[in-house]
Amino acid sequence: MRLTRRNLLGAAVFAAIAPSTALAAKPLTIGFSQVGAESEWRTANTASIKDAARKAGVNLKFADAQQRQENQVKAIRSFIAQRVDIIAFSPVVESGWDTVLREAKRANIPVILTDRAVKVSDQSLYVTLLGSDFVEEGRRAAHWLVEHAKKNPNRAYNIVELQGTVGSAPALDRKAGFAEVMKTEPRLKIIRSQTGDFTRAKGKEVMEAFLKSEGKNITVLYAHNDDMAIGAIQAIEEAGFKPGKDILVVSIDGVRGAFEAMLQGKLNVTVECNPLLGPQLMEAAKAVMAGKPVPKRIVVNEGVFPAEVAAKEFPNRKY
Ligand code: AHR
Repeated sequence: MRLTRRNLLGAAVFAAIAPSTALAAKPLTIGFSQVGAESEWRTANTASIKDAARKAGVNLKFADAQQRQENQVKAIRSFIAQRVDIIAFSPVVESGWDTVLREAKRANIPVILTDRAVKVSDQSLYVTLLGSDFVEEGRRAAHWLVEHAKKNPNRAYNIVELQGTVGSAPALDRKAGFAEVMKTEPRLKIIRSQTGDFTRAKGKEVMEAFLKSEGKNITVLYAHNDDMAIGAIQAIEEAGFKPGKDILVVSIDGVRGAFEAMLQGKLNVTVECNPLLGPQLMEAAKAVMAGKPVPKRIVVNEGVFPAEVAAKEFPNRKY
């Protein structure tokens, strides 16, 4: 090409534009620290985040914390060192985040919480929390039982509770929401309560211990997630009782495994907790990078699925 004044001018204009165009084209990098792989819910949540990142052209750095807070702290520090654009994480427990989140703030890296909340002294340490209302989920579980009790005036409601991971937002909130509504029906009593760490294996193990000490005194199981309920159902059957009949089973999540148990008459109701947070996370991250306002709390819409609707709803379930 001949170098004319016009060409040179064009080249200069291109040179001026090119760096910013190149910057704009640079994919957004998100460092995401996941709780672990403890439940069917978590597997669906991870798949949703990975899939949404791929579709949105986001470069996702994914770290599995294996349900340990110290692994999440390490992952966040490594994301800071790598200078990612956004840090997102689902905190395994609520407290103990101030220091590492202050480090992220000092490095000017916005933090988005997904699924679970943190308790921090300074709310500006994170931009937004995207996830379910766990207190409401606990209330919904208790509501179902209160309605059941109204229709069955002679039934006893001696409840054993399988709590989620100690100190986690869903365990604390689901317990609180349930306790709040339970008070409206004096026949509902919690006779034993212990953590099953949100896993099937632990749910089964703790239910075995409950059955050993309480036997047929137990008439209701309230599990903070479906996986623990499914593990407990096995323990109930092995002890010679009928889950869903001798012992009512109420749980939270709405995963396929729970629907299968409802179709077999072994689980009475599951309160939905939607794990498909990926697309909303990508949207929020892009909005934050574009300097657009993002609400401090983004709550996901969810339903309640009693066994009577399981057959109709099962084909529509996405997780
Ligand atoms: O934080 C959401 C909870 O964590 C889900 O209810 C449970 O299944 C998961 O492990």
